[in-house]
Amino acid sequence: MNELDSLVQQAQALFTQCGSAAELENAKAQFLGKSGRISELMKGLSQLDLEAKKTQGAVINAAKQSIEHLLNARRQALADAELNRQLQAEKLDVSLPSGLRTQGGLHPVSLSLERIELIFASMGFSVAQGPEIETDWFNFTALNTPQDHPARSMHDTFYVEGGHLLRTHTSPMQIRHAMAHVQQHQQSIAAGKGMPEIRVIAPGRTYRVDSDATHSPMFHQCEGLWIGENISFKDLKVVFTDFCKTFFENEDLVLRFRPSFFPFTEPSAEIDIQFPSGPLAGRWLEVAGSGQVHPNVVRNMGLDPEHYIGFAFGMGPDRLTMLRYGVNDLRLFFDGDIRFLSQFR
Ligand code: DAH
Repeated sequence: MNELDSLVQQAQALFTQCGSAAELENAKAQFLGKSGRISELMKGLSQLDLEAKKTQGAVINAAKQSIEHLLNARRQALADAELNRQLQAEKLDVSLPSGLRTQGGLHPVSLSLERIELIFASMGFSVAQGPEIETDWFNFTALNTPQDHPARSMHDTFYVEGGHLLRTHTSPMQIRHAMAHVQQHQQSIAAGKGMPEIRVIAPGRTYRVDSDATHSPMFHQCEGLWIGENISFKDLKVVFTDFCKTFFENEDLVLRFRPSFFPFTEPSAEIDIQFPSGPLAGRWLEVAGSGQVHPNVVRNMGLDPEHYIGFAFGMGPDRLTMLRYGVNDLRLFFDGDIRFLSQFR
């Protein structure tokens, strides 16, 4: 094999080894570049006589053309391979089933809140919203829970700069809503003509330093308040019993009003329910705190407690949701696990 045949073979071997266009261009320079092997051979021609120059020149040219041919073939092969790789990667199979995007749905607690709002709206309650960052006064003092009151210790919370705190319950909305209502009807009240009754629920997020299977640092509450000239504990029983039976779609549900204590109500009661059948049958389950609004609280609303009375309650929509769907760990609601949440779609 002569020197040129071997050169062509070397070029072929090297080009074949190149796995990318960049490598190939580097390899090309070794043979066809300015100081590549072919150029070197061409330079050597000057020492030959005319006849030898002609024959040897033709042979070198033929070798050069072969190398160029091999180079182009390899370029094409690499380009084809790259295209194939891309086509493979971006392959679109139009025969695949569509609808991979699943449909979202409301969170189970949101479903309960919607339900609660609808049921109370049917009984003439409006819905109020209030701030989650509260002042000490609205969260405690105005609710007859002054500084150093022992009831505060059950409401440890997160404090924000400037003396604010994350509300520990929705009860401050009793004061906020009533104050706004009184303000709105001030003239009529001053003229002795009274005001329309306050009948409102206030659902929302609440916070406490608490975390286990039945407590979460963030949880939901829904406050209820009905104030008028003649709203009694009997009305509380009727309204709340009606609500529970509708919410759980169970006319045979039994309610129990168990004497309790809250600073903002007097008398106070905890409300328990009992299912007549099903997995929870026979057990008393606490669902709300309630009571006749304390005169001091009525006063803080801007009303005369000799004239205006009514009831309030506070319940936990998270707990109601657990009972309704048979969920035994509150934390499931806030883990964001789609497998759990999608069951409520
Ligand atoms: N705010 C109370 C709590 O979080 C619940 C409560 C009890 C609300 C009695 C009320 C009520 O409106 O009358 O523990």
